[in-house]
Amino acid sequence: MYSVETASLTKEFGGVRAIDGISLRVEEGEVFGFLGPNGAGKSTTMMILTTLLKPTSGRALVAGHDVAASPGDVRRSIGYVQQESTADEFLTGRENLALQARMNRMPSGLAASRIDEMLDLIELADKQHEPVLGYSGGMRKRLDIAGGLLHMPRVLFLDEPTVGLDIQTRRRIWEYIGRLHDELGMSVFVSTHYMEEADRLCDEVGIIDYGKIQAIDSPGRLKGALGREAVALELDGDGAAREKLAAALGAADGVEGVSAPPGGGPGVTVFAHDSATAIPRIFGLAERMGVRVSSISISRPTLEDVFVSYTGRELRDAPAREDRGGRWRRRSAAAEAGKTGGPRKRGLLA
Ligand SMILES: Nc1ncnc2c1ncn2[C@@H]1O[C@H](COP(=O)(O)OP(=O)(O)OP(=O)(O)O)[C@@H](O)[C@H]1O
Ligand SMILES: [Mg+2]
Repeated sequence: MYSVETASLTKEFGGVRAIDGISLRVEEGEVFGFLGPNGAGKSTTMMILTTLLKPTSGRALVAGHDVAASPGDVRRSIGYVQQESTADEFLTGRENLALQARMNRMPSGLAASRIDEMLDLIELADKQHEPVLGYSGGMRKRLDIAGGLLHMPRVLFLDEPTVGLDIQTRRRIWEYIGRLHDELGMSVFVSTHYMEEADRLCDEVGIIDYGKIQAIDSPGRLKGALGREAVALELDGDGAAREKLAAALGAADGVEGVSAPPGGGPGVTVFAHDSATAIPRIFGLAERMGVRVSSISISRPTLEDVFVSYTGRELRDAPAREDRGGRWRRRSAAAEAGKTGGPRKRGLLA
């Protein structure tokens, strides 16, 4: 069962395609991260999935219900925290939540106990009787999230829950998201600009750009597909021994390449798909050849690197590029090498 399933979803605004053939599947119980630059189509997609917009064509199921045929069933199954805060500034935090509970037609007794629980979860119990006008951005966001959770939806949609917040608040919000997932088994569909957070918390991420899904997989596999880890070594000993070792490393199992200075300099970099397997081999060979490794450091591709490889630019507030040539070349090279997507979702990328 999927929490979200879409097939060739498109949305046009006056002839302009905001989203262009989005097909994706999100397993129930997963945290799915939706990553894309400004204007990529994240909010538009989420508004279709939450029944606030009708698609121009294509199909979408949320918690097993068709957004076009059964919007009421979809709404009962979801919570949606929009990009812009929807709290009424002149009401207190608690009053806002009570309003939300009434809109979800929750019985008042249940609403009162859920509101207490949620206020504890988001650590706003002590401020609950103050007007939202006096809340900070982070407090408002937490209140919005609590509002989306009151009726314990099966699928929670969060559109940029941490944008513009300081790092501590962002960390706490992601902690809540992690807890919702771990403790309540809730499916979470979250768009974000923050790569490290998506990397840490999302089971799967989808990269969207120009209204199309460019890649979809677990952060680990996306980073792995990007290629090699670099193991940088500092070697002691004489130049000839170091040179011999570099040659032997180049021929070793699990090593994809070696970069060594001519004449046996001390700095040698070994490229490998999996440094955890390569490192014991490196040490084994070095010992046999009488060369001491005095330091070692590993660098791995980050999710930011993955994003740049698919979109040709960094995520944070980068303007869309007119020239897409480099981007497409890079993408098709990766696709040809069979490096994108896990087998489960590959077919949907077309
Ligand atoms: N109601 C609308 N009318 C016309 N164009 C729209 C409308 N809503 C969105 N668009 C356009 O559709 C495209 C996708 O917008 P969308 O808001 O989905 O992007 P986003 O990925 O959420 O961006 P951001 O990171 O800035 O929130 C943009 O080009 C936007 O200008
Ligand atoms: Mg948006």
